[in-house]
Order: sequence, then structure tokens, then C-alpha cells
Amino acid sequence: MANAKIIALAGSLRKNSFNHAVIEHAAELAKQQGAEVEILSLAELDLPMFNEDVEAQGVPANVQILKDKLRSADAILLASPEYNGSITAVLKNAIDWASRTEAGAEPAFRNKVVALFAASPGGLGGLRGLNHVRDILSGIGALVLGDQLAVPAIHTLLDENGKISDAGASEKIGGLTSQLVEVTSKLNS
Ligand SMILES: Cc1cc2nc3c(=O)[nH]c(=O)nc-3n(C[C@H](O)[C@H](O)[C@H](O)COP(=O)(O)O)c2cc1C
Repeated sequence: MANAKIIALAGSLRKNSFNHAVIEHAAELAKQQGAEVEILSLAELDLPMFNEDVEAQGVPANVQILKDKLRSADAILLASPEYNGSITAVLKNAIDWASRTEAGAEPAFRNKVVALFAASPGGLGGLRGLNHVRDILSGIGALVLGDQLAVPAIHTLLDENGKISDAGASEKIGGLTSQLVEVTSKLNS
């Protein structure tokens, strides 16, 4: 059975993003279960705002990198904050770019198994935003796992290096990560 190939992505550009800490933690756990995981940073990719006029002049190089990496993966670990109860602009922009198909190419999110996480210092953990992310990704062919995880009070669950140190949070992140690896491996077999 081929190892699951996973892209991990956070819907925040912030240097010390809590959601980035969640995907780093999930990525480590997925690797321990035999998955190949690559973390993609939207801050590093620095995608332009989607504009059909820009696209018509040629897909920007970093957009192409995002699309190619998504296409070559089996699954996606995605953690995002909610902004005003919804998806962050940076994540929606990345999804809009990735949803566009070049001639003959597969839609980048199509048939990717996706595990959704959110983290917030607030009490709902970003849960409301996840519903919007789920709707958008399901609408473009992603296979979003029914289970999802919103982590409230995330700022209390990290060590001094900004890594997830809380055992309960780690266990919950590990549970959803295991499900992603397991479902993806079954689909690959
Ligand atoms: C424009 C804006 C809107 C926000 N709206 C929400 C919200 O609706 N719910 C929530 O829990 N936190 C909200 N927050 C707080 C974020 O959860 C917090 O900034 C968090 O650290 C962002 O995630 P990150 O650390 O991964 O960047 C908002 C923050 C910003 C900047």
C-alpha cells in the first residue's frame, strides 16, 4: 500500500500563527504513521489576489506551485482561523486560484481527502469558519471528512516555543490526523 501523500496548509499569514502550530503538530503525527507530509506556507507563497486579467496573462509561478503540489497529493491537512465567523481572505484566495483548471488538468482539490482544523483564542475555536470552508471545498470536489476539530483557547495550549504542548489537544489533533491517514491509505489500497 502506497504511503499517503499529504499537503498541510494553514489559512493564516501570521508569523506565529496558532493554526500553523496545529498543522505542524498534525504533520508530525501523520509522519509517525507513515505518511509523507509537506507543509506549504501561504505566507511564503505570497499569492497575488485572484484576478482573471492576471490569470489571462499566465498563471503566476507560485500559484502553479500550489496547484501542482495539491494535485500530486492524496490528502490535505488544513487548519484555519475564522475571521468574523467565516473563512479568511487568504485561504479563500488560495482556493479560488487553485480551483481554476488549465486545459486538460484536474481541478486541484478534486478527490482530495481533507481534514479540517481550526484554532482560536476564543471559545468556539473557529468552528463557524469551518462550516464555510467545508461548503466551499465540498463544492469543488474535495472529500472533506465528516469529523473536524475546532480548538478553543489555543493560546493556553502551547509551550514557550509556540508548539502544541497540551496532551488533550495533542490527542484530539492526533485522532483526526489518524483518520485522515487511515481513510487515505484505504483509498490508495
Ligand atoms: C479580522 C479578524 C477577525 C477575527 N474574527 C474572529 C472570529 O470570528 N472568531 C474567532 O474565534 N476569532 C477571530 N479572530 C481572532 C483570531 O482567531 C486570532 O487572531 C487568531 O490568532 C488567528 O489565527 P492565527 O493565530 O492562526 O493567525 C479574528 C481576528 C481578525 C484579525
